Amino acid sequence: MITLVKGFHDILPDQAPLWEFITHSARETLKRFGFREIISPVMEKTELFQRGIGGQTDIVEKEMYSFADRGGENLSLRPEATAGILRAVVEHSLLQRESPLKLFTMGPMFRRERPSKGRFRQFYQINAEVVGEDSPYVDAETIAAAHQIMVALGARGLMIELNSVGCRACRANHREILHAFLSDHIGRLCEDCVRRMAINPLRVFDCKAEGCRSVMKGAPLISDYLDEPCRLHFDKVKAGLELLDVPYRLEPTMVRGLDYYTRTAFEVIHEDLGRSKAVGGGGRYDGLVHELGGPEAPGIGFALGVDRLVMGMDEADPRFARGVDVFVAALGEHARDAAFQLVHTLRSAGFSTETRYGAKTLKSQMKQADKLKARFVLMLGDDEIAANQVTLRNMATREQHTIPMEKAHEILQGDLT
Ligand code: HAM
Repeated sequence: MITLVKGFHDILPDQAPLWEFITHSARETLKRFGFREIISPVMEKTELFQRGIGGQTDIVEKEMYSFADRGGENLSLRPEATAGILRAVVEHSLLQRESPLKLFTMGPMFRRERPSKGRFRQFYQINAEVVGEDSPYVDAETIAAAHQIMVALGARGLMIELNSVGCRACRANHREILHAFLSDHIGRLCEDCVRRMAINPLRVFDCKAEGCRSVMKGAPLISDYLDEPCRLHFDKVKAGLELLDVPYRLEPTMVRGLDYYTRTAFEVIHEDLGRSKAVGGGGRYDGLVHELGGPEAPGIGFALGVDRLVMGMDEADPRFARGVDVFVAALGEHARDAAFQLVHTLRSAGFSTETRYGAKTLKSQMKQADKLKARFVLMLGDDEIAANQVTLRNMATREQHTIPMEKAHEILQGDLT
C-alpha cells in the first residue's frame, strides 16, 4: 500500500460537509465585508517568498517545499497566500483600477513543519487582504471580519491577541536596544537566534527554544518604543475594536512568524481549542507591496486555518448532517426500470435522490433510506406501475399515501419547502 505523504491528510467524505460549511460561511461573511475572490497559483518563484516573508524566518529558512524544476528555475509551493496575492496585484496593476482592493482567497498552503495535532504540512487557509488604505479603521474592520467569520461559524471562546510591531522608524530605535539586551544574554540563546540577532533581533521573540523564551521574558518590548504616529494608530485600532465589541487582549511579545508586518499584528485565539495554537493571524504590512516591486501602498490582512477550525467542530452537528431529499424504492423488475427513470427525473428537477440497485426487499431498501437520512421515500411496485402511481412516505411523520406518478415531483416540491 502506498500511504500519504507525512504531514499531509485526506479530508474524508464524513468531514467534507464540515469543510464545505466553513468555506461557504466564510465566503458569505467576506462578501458582506466587501472582499472579492482572487485565485492565485499554489507555486511561485522561491524569490517571491524570500523577499516577501523574509529570508530569516523559520518559514523560508526551514519549512518551504522548494526545488529546481526541469528548466532549472527555483520554485516553491506557497507557504502562505499573501505574497502571491500581492505579486498578482502588482503584476496586473490592480491598484490602478481599484483602491482599496479587498481580496480573499482560499486554498492549500505548504510548510514542512513538524506535524502535530492541528499542524500539517499541507493545510488550508481562508485568507483576506485589504490593499491601499492605511486608516486604523481598516485595521479594526479587518480584525472584525476575521472575528465575524468565527462568530458566524458558531465558535465561542474567541479572543484577539493584539500588538503593534511599529514602523521601520520605531523598529530601528528598538532594534539597537534589543540587540544590546540580547548581547548581554548571548550565552543562553540558541544558535539560530544568535545568527538572527544581527539581522532581525525581533525574530528572537518568536523562537520556541526554552532558553530563548526565558531570556525574552525580560526583553525590551517593541510596544514601548512606538513613535507618536504608530502609537496613535494603535490607540485608534484598539478604540475601533471596542466600538465593534471585538474582544481583544494586548500581547506585547507577539511578533508573528513573518517579517512583513508593520504596526498592527494579531492572532485569533479560539480558547475552546486550547491556548497553544492560533486559529488565525494577520496584520498590517505597509512596505510589502513596494518591496515586491509595486507602488508605496499600505495593506493589512489575515489568514484563518481551516484544519484548526474543523478541530473545534463536531461532525455530528446537525448543521452538517446532510440527508437526501428522496429515496426511491422499487419492488419487482418492471418497477426497477421505472424507478431508474424516476430517480433521474427527480435529480434533474433538483431533488437529491438515491436508490439502491442491489437491495431487493422493501425492508432492506427502507434501511438504506434511513441510513441516507432520506426525508421522503417513493415506493414503486409492479401494481403501482400498472396504475401509474407511486406511494409517498414521509419519513419523519411516517404518513404515506398513493399519488399519481407524474405528480410526484410537484408534490415533493411542496412538501420539501
Ligand atoms: P500564519 O500565522 O502563518 O499567517 O498562518 C495563519 C493560520 O494558518 C494559523 O493561525 C493557522 O491556523 C494556520 N496554519 C499555519 N501553519 C499551519 C500548519 N502547519 N498546519 C495547520 N494550520 C496552519 C499567515 O499565513 C499570513 N499570510 C496571514 C496574513 C495574511 N497576514 C497578512 N495577510
